[in-house]
Amino acid sequence: MAEIINIPVILATARKGRSSEKAANFMLEQAKAYGLETELIDVRDYRIEATDNSGNLPEAQRLSSKISRADGLIIVSPEYNHGYPGELKMMLDMLYEEYFKKPVGFCGVSSGIFGGVRGVEQLRQVSIEFHMVPIREAMYFPQIDSLIKDDGRVTDKDYHDRAKKFLDELVWYAKALKQHRD
Ligand SMILES: Cc1cc2nc3c(=O)[nH]c(=O)nc-3n(C[C@H](O)[C@H](O)[C@H](O)COP(=O)(O)O)c2cc1C
Repeated sequence: MAEIINIPVILATARKGRSSEKAANFMLEQAKAYGLETELIDVRDYRIEATDNSGNLPEAQRLSSKISRADGLIIVSPEYNHGYPGELKMMLDMLYEEYFKKPVGFCGVSSGIFGGVRGVEQLRQVSIEFHMVPIREAMYFPQIDSLIKDDGRVTDKDYHDRAKKFLDELVWYAKALKQHRD
């Protein structure tokens, strides 16, 4: 029987009108097509008033059950003023040990030409403090509204191949690390 690998896709912004949702849905579809068990984790469903890492909040408990089961993560994040959204950090900071020794792949999104690369580089550093393994491959979605139309159509056909290469690396680490975590 094929090994079940669970890799959720985190949508990092709660902004009204967010275009990053299109990139997150694209990655979700690619992960499903790759044969992964996956789901969208939307920061909108985990908004809290202030940083709280006690583990007591219902939001933390809901998130904990999902991240504990995960063998890795895909984070789809827009770049806001050369960083990543604050609501993503507040959500991630609710947990700690649930992330240990799991790979994470990053997808940056922007309306400009750089595809959110600066926010992604910051997230790599944060992920190390969570004892995660940030993979080298990344997906960048510059000029998002031309790249992915409102109906979800991706205008650059290379993106399916790029997603495959990204998932190849992420799943390699997910399988390797899972063996030793179990
Ligand atoms: C507060 C804020 C700051 C932003 N800063 C940047 C930035 O530093 N670099 C960039 O390429 N785009 C920036 N953008 C534009 C986003 O790239 C654009 O909104 C894009 O659609 C992705 O974000 P979204 O999911 O919120 O739509 C910013 C947008 C907002 C709302």
